[in-house]
Amino acid sequence: MTKQHARISASVYTSHVPAIGAALDLGKTAEPYWAPLFQGYEPSKQWMRDNKPDVIFLVYNDHATAFSLEFIPTFAIGCAAEFQPADEGWGPRPVPTVVGHPELAAHIAQSVIQQDFDLTIVNKMDVDHGLTVPLSLMCGQPEAWPCPVIPFAVNVVQYPVPSGRRCFELGRAIRRAIESYDEPLNVHIWGTGGMSHQLQGPRAGLINKAFDQAFLDRLIADPEGQAAVPHIDYVREAGSEGIELVMWLIARGAMADGVGGPPPKVVHRFYHVPASNTAVGHLILEEQA
Ligand code: DHB
Ligand code: FE
Repeated sequence: MTKQHARISASVYTSHVPAIGAALDLGKTAEPYWAPLFQGYEPSKQWMRDNKPDVIFLVYNDHATAFSLEFIPTFAIGCAAEFQPADEGWGPRPVPTVVGHPELAAHIAQSVIQQDFDLTIVNKMDVDHGLTVPLSLMCGQPEAWPCPVIPFAVNVVQYPVPSGRRCFELGRAIRRAIESYDEPLNVHIWGTGGMSHQLQGPRAGLINKAFDQAFLDRLIADPEGQAAVPHIDYVREAGSEGIELVMWLIARGAMADGVGGPPPKVVHRFYHVPASNTAVGHLILEEQA
């Protein structure tokens, strides 16, 4: 009998604007400002119901919530059994506890570290809007999240940040790790954060629609080319917080075409401005059979 292994069936990309979480939690989704944004995620929620994964590997960034300036891991994998929504100053969001998958997380840590990426192993961590807002956008307001989630935190807040190239290569390593896990789990990998935004200084409020749309085009069709773009180009063109977009390259690197397979199919693409100070971008890519 051949052994059954875990596989990645899809990748999801979305911004994580905290005000989106507040709009949901305060019942404001039907207001004229927010309605068009939430409309763009209606197909995504249906797609999640139709394509429920066994595990979500969720690449996101912590915003000085779980990690302070005392500890700044570049890449941190959450190996705990559960993760509580963080108190970011207004109390924790009223969303479900995030249930982890310690066995798969430990396997990925083992495999990826042995593929020469230095991961920080995290056994206790609260998760902020970087993780909970994407779950809310994709799953709505359920009693419990639909499946276990492995949080994977990337430092894009305190310089130096990892390059797009390294993020893309890390995605490839994560794919190999998942595919060598001895259980037939259906795994989604999510890349979150972005799109263009700058929250501070004279350029606060910067949004660059042309850059964002070109990033989406290239993430779909030429991810290796996009991975070669240096971090300073993101900061110049997409704002200081636009650098969050390098996290999308981790999820993209984990798709089959990153290791010589067929390109993924675009199931949904959405772009909306504004949400708070941020352009919101969203993609769902499915592996071809
Ligand atoms: C905003 C966006 C972010 O990505 C973030 O982490 C905090 C705030 C904003 O647009 O307000
Ligand atoms: Fe952010």
